[in-house]
Amino acid sequence: MSGEMSPIDRAKFIAAKRAVDFIEDGMRVGLGTGSTAAWMVRCLAERVKAEGLQITGVPTSARTADLGRSLGLRVVSLDEAKWLDLTIDGTDEFDPNLNLIKGGGGALLMEKIVATASDQMIVIADISKQVEKLGSFPLPVEIIPFGWQTTKTLIEETLINLDVMGRSSTLRLDRDQPYITDQGNYILDLHLRRIGNARQVSLVLNQIPGVVENGLFIDICDIIVLGHGDGTVEVRDINNGTVTQDRIEVVDGDNLFTDL
Ligand code: 5RP
Repeated sequence: MSGEMSPIDRAKFIAAKRAVDFIEDGMRVGLGTGSTAAWMVRCLAERVKAEGLQITGVPTSARTADLGRSLGLRVVSLDEAKWLDLTIDGTDEFDPNLNLIKGGGGALLMEKIVATASDQMIVIADISKQVEKLGSFPLPVEIIPFGWQTTKTLIEETLINLDVMGRSSTLRLDRDQPYITDQGNYILDLHLRRIGNARQVSLVLNQIPGVVENGLFIDICDIIVLGHGDGTVEVRDINNGTVTQDRIEVVDGDNLFTDL
């Protein structure tokens, strides 16, 4: 990393740097996916190197596995680790109850499995991810390729009976081909605009044959670490009801992570 960071990158970096303070020697840690999570993987690798920590990382995507390995982290599968102390991941939206929409990066299935297999989930984000009601960000749903058009129709028909503002959906593409997840599935993005009852939507979607998982994370996130472009960081703990604030100095320049 070289040169000046944009305010958004600074906010992501600050959130990531503060979040890795929660990681202790010997922990098994779920490693999220996306640009904010990538900052976290870099910050973690830096701590591991500087402090000689013994950390086992379980990645939530092939991309994160590659990044972690390239930075010298010990990376294993969830089956090897079995249960995790902590998962740190980004998000596409979070509401006041720390319910989330995830999957913008296409990794929602592995992310949800890993987060659910963790004692604690910490989400790292910048303020643009905060919403009063989930749904502005299209809800990603991972579906089986077989009969996907029928699954799409079934989902749209099911949404008629739910408290959402829109019900159209689009198949996610990678150039002009369907986007393929790490598990070999497709992703439908649901344009719901506003989700009245996220728990209900999540439960109902997962009943539809062909749906593997949806990107609503309900009651999974424990703590949100919110970075701001001005260097301040806020830690909101939903279980304790606490909010703490901090400041992290970022020195722009050529040497950020170059020693990894
Ligand atoms: C990937 C995700 C990401 O956490 C989410 O898309 C946020 O990404 P970014 O940190 O790049 O904004 O859910 O599936």
